[in-house]
Amino acid sequence: MCGIIGYNGVSSAVPFLIDGLKRLEYRGYDSAGIAVISNRNIRQEKKKGRIAVLSSALKKRDDMCGTIGIGHTRWATHGSPTDENAHPHKSGKFTLVHNGIIENHKELKEKYLKLCDFKSETDTETAVHLINRHYSGNCIEAIAQTVKLLEGSFAMAILCEDEPETIFCVRKASPLLIGTGEEASIASDISAISSKADTLYRMADGEIAAVKKDCIEFYDFNLNKIDKERSEFSVGYAHTEKGEFDHYMLKEIYEQPEAVKRTVDSYLQNDTLNMPIKTDKPERIYIVACGSAYHAGLAGKLFFEQLLSIPVSVEIASEFRYCSPLANKKTPVIIISQSGETADSLAALREAKKKGAPTIGIVNVPESSIATESDSVIYTKAGTEIAVATTKAYSAQLSALYMLAIFFAEKWQTAEKKQLSDLTEGLRKLHICIKNALGCEEQIKEIAARFADTEHAYFIGRGSGYAVAAEASLKLKEISYIHSEAYAAGEMKHGTISLIEPGTKVIAICAPNGLNAKMQSNIDEVKARGAEIFAVTCTHETKADTCIITAEAPHPMMSISTQIIPLQLLSYHVARLRGCDIDKPRNLAKSVTVE
Ligand code: F6R
Repeated sequence: MCGIIGYNGVSSAVPFLIDGLKRLEYRGYDSAGIAVISNRNIRQEKKKGRIAVLSSALKKRDDMCGTIGIGHTRWATHGSPTDENAHPHKSGKFTLVHNGIIENHKELKEKYLKLCDFKSETDTETAVHLINRHYSGNCIEAIAQTVKLLEGSFAMAILCEDEPETIFCVRKASPLLIGTGEEASIASDISAISSKADTLYRMADGEIAAVKKDCIEFYDFNLNKIDKERSEFSVGYAHTEKGEFDHYMLKEIYEQPEAVKRTVDSYLQNDTLNMPIKTDKPERIYIVACGSAYHAGLAGKLFFEQLLSIPVSVEIASEFRYCSPLANKKTPVIIISQSGETADSLAALREAKKKGAPTIGIVNVPESSIATESDSVIYTKAGTEIAVATTKAYSAQLSALYMLAIFFAEKWQTAEKKQLSDLTEGLRKLHICIKNALGCEEQIKEIAARFADTEHAYFIGRGSGYAVAAEASLKLKEISYIHSEAYAAGEMKHGTISLIEPGTKVIAICAPNGLNAKMQSNIDEVKARGAEIFAVTCTHETKADTCIITAEAPHPMMSISTQIIPLQLLSYHVARLRGCDIDKPRNLAKSVTVE
């Protein structure tokens, strides 16, 4: 969620920190702050609002001139977004920034810090007071004693006035990377430091680092020294610019053909799918994810079950981890995640591993925790995704799931050769069909104008149409703030149809899955109650008021990939007309690293 940045070098820290915070802003953007050490004194500035607000406050400060510093962009969990609750938090000679949640902060406060003067409502402030309380001249010892008391997840960067040449870092269950090169840098996400560092260390759970500008030492929480290996940066994860587009989201929508082609090309050579997975035919498969990645999982289930004839359960990660899943060594668990850091998905992965299940990550960020901890990984090659609402990573996830299903079907011989070669041919053409689907933007702009004042919308579909509906509904609500729900079309009449009034907008996804006649009956049902119907369809045979004709998919089983395109564009244009902050919708963050 929140973003952490740090710099220890020879130049002024502030420009580096502000630049890094801007790159991390998509992780959380309700307040931000930085601290530097200058002449053995910690100086800090923190502000409610976007990084731009912090930047203008810093223009009035001429004392923030150190070459070592830390910064933070916040997504509020404990305490509302205010100047006081923004990080860094200070106590005595220490200041720190934190990503994660300290779950036992109340107990710790009660037990050790009754007399402390708390300035914020955050859980984080407990940690800095505890470090200060444990301090008797040795910083790293005070930090080690403190972290052993903390429960929950945390990544922290800490400064102490008595060691003005070191940034201390700790990590438990929240990501933290240390970049090395001419100067040392710290970030919770590779995009913030990839242009500045040559190599990086990925902190593991239970580690403390002492980061000096030219040397980095690692310890466990008992202060035993650890030897760690550095890794190279992966190509393609550098920061990207908006270019000719007004928003990252629109740019990323148009990057989908490339994202899908890159993903397919990395596993499909000539006519053969090469995937790094050894699993034997299992009894059942679990797919676990959150949000849009979960919706990709819904699509994956249909594909898997048709080709493999094995039951597939798609689970919401935050539920899976606490519902005693029946996973075992015969049930592979596929975890889908763009960021690879989503706390619930990561916890679900660890739960699956505990149960002995083989785990397969479908991940976009190669250095991420889920990519590192999964037994095998399929990398989606969407490149850096900046807009909070995912588009190209979702499309790349769909293509990875198609490939995985075809690969398993070939390996386990569960489908006809002809069907598999048709699907493989489809994979090759998928990016072209997505490109064709993008041709609808002008029509979508007109339709968007009719949604601008809408307050409620319903998406309905059957089978693969329902998978599209679920994702399209999430897209619309998260960026345009229109209340929207997705229903399996046949389920609507079991209650929700009572909400249909004259003029209610219903978007019906008519997938080429043999259920068109049933969909038409469901369209009739809502139309009879006065709904205005928009059908997403490949044919004109529909009773809808407006047809959005989508480009054909390369294979009917892949229609989700083309039918979602007009609906991503619809959300974008509706949000734009409503004046919403499209790339950074309210209350959201790109990488959800808290439970
Ligand atoms: C919606 C969206 C989120 C993410 C979800 C999982 O547009 O982006 O719903 O899909 O937070 O994130 P990852 O894929 O990073 O695990």
